[in-house]
Amino acid sequence: MSKLTAAITAVGGYVPKFILTNKMLEGMVDTNDEWITSRTGIKERRLLKDDEGKGASYLGIKAAQDLINKRKVDPTEIDLVIVATATPDSMVTSTAAFVASEIGATNAFAYDLLAACSSFLFGMSTAASYIESGKYKKVLLIGADKMSSIIDYTDRTTCIIFGDGAGAVLFEPNTEGFGLHDEFLRADGSGRQFLGMDAGGSLMPATEETVKNRKHYIYQDGKNVFRFAVSNMADIAAKIMERNGLSDKEVAWLVPHQANKRIIDATAKRMGLDHSKVMVNIHKYGNTTSATLPLLLHDYEDQLKKGDNLVFAAFGGGFTWGSIYLKWAYNN
Ligand code: UT7
Repeated sequence: MSKLTAAITAVGGYVPKFILTNKMLEGMVDTNDEWITSRTGIKERRLLKDDEGKGASYLGIKAAQDLINKRKVDPTEIDLVIVATATPDSMVTSTAAFVASEIGATNAFAYDLLAACSSFLFGMSTAASYIESGKYKKVLLIGADKMSSIIDYTDRTTCIIFGDGAGAVLFEPNTEGFGLHDEFLRADGSGRQFLGMDAGGSLMPATEETVKNRKHYIYQDGKNVFRFAVSNMADIAAKIMERNGLSDKEVAWLVPHQANKRIIDATAKRMGLDHSKVMVNIHKYGNTTSATLPLLLHDYEDQLKKGDNLVFAAFGGGFTWGSIYLKWAYNN
């Protein structure tokens, strides 16, 4: 029998209705459309408004339901639900457990996976390993983040970047050579000083002081993160091509984390890829953290062909980063 691989067999996505445009941000902080567009490539982002009383699970449930309805998946056949997220509904309780129950995945176990903007990429490796082991047949991987819940809308260095959204993919066994083929995944803890959220975890529990000092919002030393992101994402994407003997012509698509259009361009350039082969939706959604990669698949699903070679690349807080080579398994 030929080797068992883990293929993506279905995709779903969801973004909330409310659109926060660059123009609207001009009225909130000292910024302008020209700066945001030229420095990041972002024109607008979607927000799940707080007054709706919903967390990241709501976004994840919507994306999973989209996948289930589109592909007529029986949720009771799902073995495992992984929610990749940096903004779980709450500490301690598994957001994935709630999502699994809400979508009717009553025979699944479920847990969250947290690796900042690399959460979904690392989740792909995790999901695929369960399938490759032969242990499970259907693993639902969801990337969902309500970034607006940890953004300070008076801080122009972060509020222009992030947005809310979710995407979902189903991994199933394949014996025809489609699915995940190779991965390079890395982490460097010295990077946590450059990107994160100080309070709310075990290191700095919530107090009146932490709230007063705005420590429950995300911070980012953009320049330093940019420097690390550009070199690491480009290096690792080029490396995975080299290790698998893939020329630029053989790569059908680059699926890059959407943090900054300039980081995406630098990665594509290093890989020798034409712009037409690079998936981009940062202009519409900004940086949705764990949701960027599956939302790209959702947006580009109609253009993907069975046998296409896809190279995924991501970089995020921690630092965490990596690249995955996957052969697409179906025509839409
Ligand atoms: O997804 C997780 C990983 N995250 C990333 O990969 C993000 C990496 N970093 C970036 O994408 C970029 O560093 C940013 C988009 C965050 C910032 O772009 P930059 O080109 O690195 O700008 P900068 O921070 O060096 O700031 C340049 C100037 C500064 O003014 P001075 O000191 O030159 O007078 C900033 O104060 O732009 C100013 N500035 C702004 N101006 C208008 C910073 N933020 C803004 C703003 N609007 N929103």
